[in-house]
Amino acid sequence: MDAKHILLVITGGIAAVKAPELIRSLSQHGFKITPVLTKAAEKFVTPLSIAALARSRVYADLFDLKDESEMGHIELSRLADLILVAPATANVMAKMAHGISDDLASTILLATDTSVMIAPSMNVRMWDHPSTQRNLNLLADDGVKLVGPNVGEMACGEYGLGRMAEVTDIVSAVEQFFQSGPLLGKHLLVTSGPTHEPIDPIRYISNRSSGTQGRAIAAALRDLGAQVSFVTGPTNLATPFGVKTYQVETAKEMHDVVQKLLPVDGAVFAAAVADWRVDGVRDQKIKKQTSGALPQLKFLENPDILATVSKHAQRPKLVVGFAAETNDVIENASRKLSSKGCDWIVANDVSRSSGIIGGQNNTVTVLDRGGAEAWEEMSKTEVAFRLAERIAGALA
Ligand code: CTP
Repeated sequence: MDAKHILLVITGGIAAVKAPELIRSLSQHGFKITPVLTKAAEKFVTPLSIAALARSRVYADLFDLKDESEMGHIELSRLADLILVAPATANVMAKMAHGISDDLASTILLATDTSVMIAPSMNVRMWDHPSTQRNLNLLADDGVKLVGPNVGEMACGEYGLGRMAEVTDIVSAVEQFFQSGPLLGKHLLVTSGPTHEPIDPIRYISNRSSGTQGRAIAAALRDLGAQVSFVTGPTNLATPFGVKTYQVETAKEMHDVVQKLLPVDGAVFAAAVADWRVDGVRDQKIKKQTSGALPQLKFLENPDILATVSKHAQRPKLVVGFAAETNDVIENASRKLSSKGCDWIVANDVSRSSGIIGGQNNTVTVLDRGGAEAWEEMSKTEVAFRLAERIAGALA
């Protein structure tokens, strides 16, 4: 098979320093690369090093007559199987969303009829800014694919969402793109995040789930071509691109939304649902008593969404549960596999010492009726890709 051709647009963010590593990795995976550098990107990486690594000339100037006589910007925009913008700054995203073409990179992006994938990289406040989020939605509507960004330490010293996806994750996303979408035509449901169970108008009971794993699963299923309905409890994460998101707060709300979404072809229950809710939620703030008497909370058990769907008349063909355990992980998970009636359980150790809750990596064991499959430690994005592939296999 001919090598797939990627037009790599490198824009001027600090993450441009990762471009050489990205080029090396894409080349090792058999991709042919033609690089395009913006003026700002040249402040971070040199055209010479990029050309040497990509084994291709670097295109940079819209008005370079030599470029236009050898290969015009229209031709450049058509030669690739995928245009990858990495890093994609807030600026290039804004230009793409609004059709601005004032340099070679943005002109190619406007002239192309090839699929485009972006790997955003910017400060967390720029990412969170309503205009960037608005642009992101416009780009989603235009069919632009997204990889990342991740949560992490930024070059500017701040912490949050906006770090460019890891090179391995970008390469995985590119590889996924070239697979022919085995989940095309399938509707998948994913629950994610914690739930908040109110005590009074300002207090609630919850857990430490960040929602990172569930969000990555929704994105990976989407990348394999699925129509995804994503039901999430409160998190700090941006809603995943190109999937229908339902934001809920309590277990009961999650339960009700999930029921309404049935029938679906497959469902993944990655949410860390609170097992109990408070009986008789106060409609006013509970005050401290001068007598020192402590409030007495009574609990009710929440509906078990996974168990309900597993036994539902409209049960999806494949039901995948998670097991969050702090001890005897495999024993507890295999007990859950039979008690809940699901097809697979993805078991993980959520004890604080494992670093999984709130972290970027995960170590899981996938249990089904046939046995247990232990996966090595990998990023939550990679767990999601592998799980999505396994799901595609089961729904084929
Ligand atoms: N789950 C659910 N609804 C609930 C509780 C759990 O859908 N009310 C789902 C979770 O999304 C997960 C699986 O059930 O897929 C197991 O969740 P977990 O918290 O590990 O276990 P629990 O069933 O809550 O049991 P325990 O707290 O005793 O470990």
